Amino acid sequence: MQKNDIKATNITFHQGHVGRDERQALLRQKGCTLWFTGLSGSGKSTIAFALEHVLIQAGRLAYVLDGDNIRHGLNKNLGFTADDREENIRRIGEVARLFADAGVITLASFISPYRRNRDQVRALHVAAELPFIEVYCATPIETCEARDPKGLYKKARAALASGQGLGFTGIDDPYEPPTQPEVTVDATGTSPPQAAAALIAYLRERGIV
Ligand code: ADX
Repeated sequence: MQKNDIKATNITFHQGHVGRDERQALLRQKGCTLWFTGLSGSGKSTIAFALEHVLIQAGRLAYVLDGDNIRHGLNKNLGFTADDREENIRRIGEVARLFADAGVITLASFISPYRRNRDQVRALHVAAELPFIEVYCATPIETCEARDPKGLYKKARAALASGQGLGFTGIDDPYEPPTQPEVTVDATGTSPPQAAAALIAYLRERGIV
């Protein structure tokens, strides 16, 4: 049995009476997932929350699933080992798919350092015929570290210098950038409102809003 195989026996999938089309007609939009990936401090969450704000003001239902926030609740039993990061992304991939199926413009903001896990989430959406838009926040690590909004790079450097290491993404833990993201943003030269505007334009082009 593989790690992610269904464990339960005697379960049957129950189909409801309302189709996705009806929910989309009700909400006047198409559900989708925008998946923000990038280093800590690369601007993922700031851009996602800016975009959520603009969408809601424009009468669209959007919702941010944010790494730090989700780790206070649903994923509070996960840390930062490779296995835990994988499980973090697997769970949120499933949650994002459910939100998108419900008709919500879902904005998932997670470092999601491993390409394989992001591709699994993409495959989940493709199989469900839901748009999956990978947004790579390609802000260079030098910028992320200079900003260091949570002081974590400083901690990670100090831990490394003391010979212990924190397993911090980009410092002593890997980050695998996307090879074919739908959108790339570098927060060095783009403000959050500018990035949000570019993403709105992209969603319009795709006929999502
Ligand atoms: S992920 O790697 O599993 O996708 P996630 O996006 O949920 O990470 O959480 C990342 C956030 O946790 C960072 O923004 C940072 O605030 C915090 N954090 C704490 N420890 C680490 C660590 N070792 N590596 C990266 N981020 C960490």
